[in-house]
Amino acid sequence: MIEPDFLRTTRTAYDAVAGLYAELFANALEDHPLDRAMLIAFADLVRANGGGPVADLGCGPGHVTALLHSFGLDASGVDLSSEMIAIARAAHPELRFEVGSMTALDLTDGSLGGALARYSIIHTPPEQLPQVCAEFHRVLAPGGHLLLAFQAHDDPSELAKSFDHKVALAYRWSPDRVAALLNETGFTETARLRQVAPPDAERDFPQAHLLVTKV
Ligand SMILES: C[S@@+](CC[C@H](N)C(=O)[O-])C[C@H]1O[C@@H](n2cnc3c(N)ncnc32)[C@H](O)[C@@H]1O
Repeated sequence: MIEPDFLRTTRTAYDAVAGLYAELFANALEDHPLDRAMLIAFADLVRANGGGPVADLGCGPGHVTALLHSFGLDASGVDLSSEMIAIARAAHPELRFEVGSMTALDLTDGSLGGALARYSIIHTPPEQLPQVCAEFHRVLAPGGHLLLAFQAHDDPSELAKSFDHKVALAYRWSPDRVAALLNETGFTETARLRQVAPPDAERDFPQAHLLVTKV
């Protein structure tokens, strides 16, 4: 199958910066208490639904996969970039990491208790997002939880707005529109968090977490 251009360019871009990215984002989100709170709630909800495997989709260097593991989840990671996966495997040899794309996951239908996509849908062209949401739905078991984090915007007339991300072409999303798309795909919304950019932030973008459940 011919690989879409956006996957090739995103992979090449992250392969080139994987070492630097891992150095910059090696911590366990100690400086992001609200992100941690959402991940803790996600982990609790997955356990309350009987647990099961949890995939960190677009896991990068695996630091958040390891955090999910430390919360007691059976966590593994998938990333487009083989350089990111090599770093994740070296840093966390006790965990499973595989190269793959969330546009077509090498996972069995209904096999996951939870899925996380933290700042990884941002490189998906808007017209491809329905396919990615359908993949999330396919691989989750009924009652499974999906947590998305992404740069956001507040204009519900547009699904996505592109922005000058340092690594690869990226989009920030309308939380209302993403929630509506997930709803059409077969999820119900459980919670969302909108974080205001701190005054010293490079870009004045809100950050969103969206937690949904497969019906
Ligand atoms: C901004 S980084 C986020 C990494 C990590 N989730 C975190 O929270 O630090 C985006 C990651 O998503 C990966 N990615 C982008 N598109 C992807 C896709 N279609 N399938 C799998 N991984 C993807 C990139 O290779 C990169 O490692």
